[in-house]
Amino acid sequence: MILPPWPSTPPRHGPVVLREVAPKDVAMARELSTDPYVPQTGSLPFDASSEDGLAWVTRQQGRHSEGAGFSFAIASAVSDEAVGHCGLWLKSLDDGLGTAGYAINPRHRRLGYAVNALRALTDFGWTVPGLLRIVLHIEPWNIASQRTARRAGYSSQKFGVGHRIANGETRDMLVYEVVRPGA
Ligand SMILES: CC(C)(COP(=O)(O)OP(=O)(O)OC[C@H]1O[C@@H](n2cnc3c(N)ncnc32)[C@H](O)[C@@H]1OP(=O)(O)O)[C@@H](O)C(=O)NCCC(=O)NCCS
Repeated sequence: MILPPWPSTPPRHGPVVLREVAPKDVAMARELSTDPYVPQTGSLPFDASSEDGLAWVTRQQGRHSEGAGFSFAIASAVSDEAVGHCGLWLKSLDDGLGTAGYAINPRHRRLGYAVNALRALTDFGWTVPGLLRIVLHIEPWNIASQRTARRAGYSSQKFGVGHRIANGETRDMLVYEVVRPGA
């Protein structure tokens, strides 16, 4: 999949800017990896070492050129410090479909970063030609993520059976969705 170019202006919303993941974000990756759930959602191992963190950063930097999607550090618009990570995944762009994911470091939670990051990510999504819908797969127990989704304009569509997670296991998840404005 050939994706549109990396945005020349970093997406932002409120106090959040979405920028490329960089080697300086290894500390953020290591902190995220201490969350028991985050390692189940991607390739970051639990309790990552510095080497694990740097390898994760390198993988994120390759996501765009390999056609997987846009992997962003969620950073403070003031200090540029990374507080988390999000991605817009576009392997099904030919069908008009994208999926998104997000995670905030434990010590930066409940400060509005996730909602602002998801708003910035979603608005950025509508700059991608052909993208009609963005979908989130959220565990039924994950109230924080469901509230984040609703605050960012997503609504719950259905209960999706057998969503595959990072380790190959399948889980039943809630499917939240937003449609391109005017589509
Ligand atoms: C889900 C997550 C991203 C939320 O990040 P956050 O920056 O704390 O979220 P925000 O501060 O933007 O708050 C968003 C909403 O969630 C609510 N919320 C946040 N943490 C909550 C919690 N522990 N319990 C209940 N509600 C919570 C907030 O109150 C807010 O809702 P409101 O505006 O209706 O009150 C964060 O908890 C996280 O990284 N979890 C682990 C990874 C994960 O689950 N990612 C999502 C996968 S689908």
